[in-house]
Amino acid sequence: MSMREKIEQAAAAYPDQRSAIMPALVIAQKEHGHLPGPVLEEVADILGVERIWVYELATFYTLFHTEPVGKFHLQLCDNVSCMLCGSGDLLTHLETVLEIKKGDTTADGLFTLSTVECLGACEMAPVMQVGDDYHGNLDVARLDALLESLRAAAGRAAGVEHASQPMPGE
Ligand code: FES
Repeated sequence: MSMREKIEQAAAAYPDQRSAIMPALVIAQKEHGHLPGPVLEEVADILGVERIWVYELATFYTLFHTEPVGKFHLQLCDNVSCMLCGSGDLLTHLETVLEIKKGDTTADGLFTLSTVECLGACEMAPVMQVGDDYHGNLDVARLDALLESLRAAAGRAAGVEHASQPMPGE
């Protein structure tokens, strides 16, 4: 199903197409990885809404990315509960081991590091969201293990892509 069809299907549940902008942006971001201007315009055109409405939502919520992000977007919560449970130290650790600052992407394009407001999972603070998954009760050791597992997953994915490439002469 094309992005247009997915958005039209999702939008059919809303009597006011303006209300369908959020789910439409989720679909568009899954499709493109991030939301550059032309994609925002396409979403507005599909829904038949003002482009500025789409732009406003896409730039307001940390959920949406108008700039490219790494394969894994590390979104560390730095709100009160997580801050009290050590998210500041975790941020410093991430910046050190990844050799980037908050807001940056690693040179290999694997990780983008951000801090976000409360993820609504304070009971397992400190919490970090990676893609659609939440990782809670984090400490430095758990964080290192998570980074390792993400690197391994990226390696496996690269291996599968490599294996599916036809060999020269095939
Ligand atoms: S303060 Fe971090 S999840 Fe609520």
